[in-house]
Amino acid sequence: MTELKIYAARVAGVAAAPEALLSTSNAELISSALKTRGIKFQRWPSKPELEPGAMQEQILEAYASLIASVQKNEGYQTVDVMRVGGDQLSGSTLRQTFLQEHQHAEDEVRFFVEGCGLFALHIKDEVLQVICEANDWIAIPAGTRHWFDMGVDPNYCVIRFFKNSGGWAASFTHDPIADHYPGLT
Ligand SMILES: [Fe+2]
Repeated sequence: MTELKIYAARVAGVAAAPEALLSTSNAELISSALKTRGIKFQRWPSKPELEPGAMQEQILEAYASLIASVQKNEGYQTVDVMRVGGDQLSGSTLRQTFLQEHQHAEDEVRFFVEGCGLFALHIKDEVLQVICEANDWIAIPAGTRHWFDMGVDPNYCVIRFFKNSGGWAASFTHDPIADHYPGLT
């Protein structure tokens, strides 16, 4: 289930485990809490005609009108479909990479077609953990400190939106903050 937990950002040297200040699975509450912090979040209608494991072309066709609307309103030039799973070695390496706090020069915009993932957004003195499930769309602005947990056995499929896909390379902050928060279980 889609879920948002808000924590205080950990202050270096303070060992206490963080406790969530807010925890909700209410989509409207999640959307409004994220919106006030500059993060866009939407729930899209499911597409029952899409089989699990659908090809990129079928996925892009099924969501064509919603994709076109996002591209028009938000200025994203290109989209693609990325599927992670089935290859545990590469999945686990990928997981470790994005578990470290980082940022991008490009917005990180994802729509979950299948599976789930946890975005942790370090904004000012808060850490917002959002577990995105199928049908969730999220847009994290360029420059936002964050990490992403795809779970111990990564298996998910997302549509990615880009203004400039070259700008999406990760720049790591080398702040170990992510080690002190729960991961995706
Ligand atoms: Fe990222």
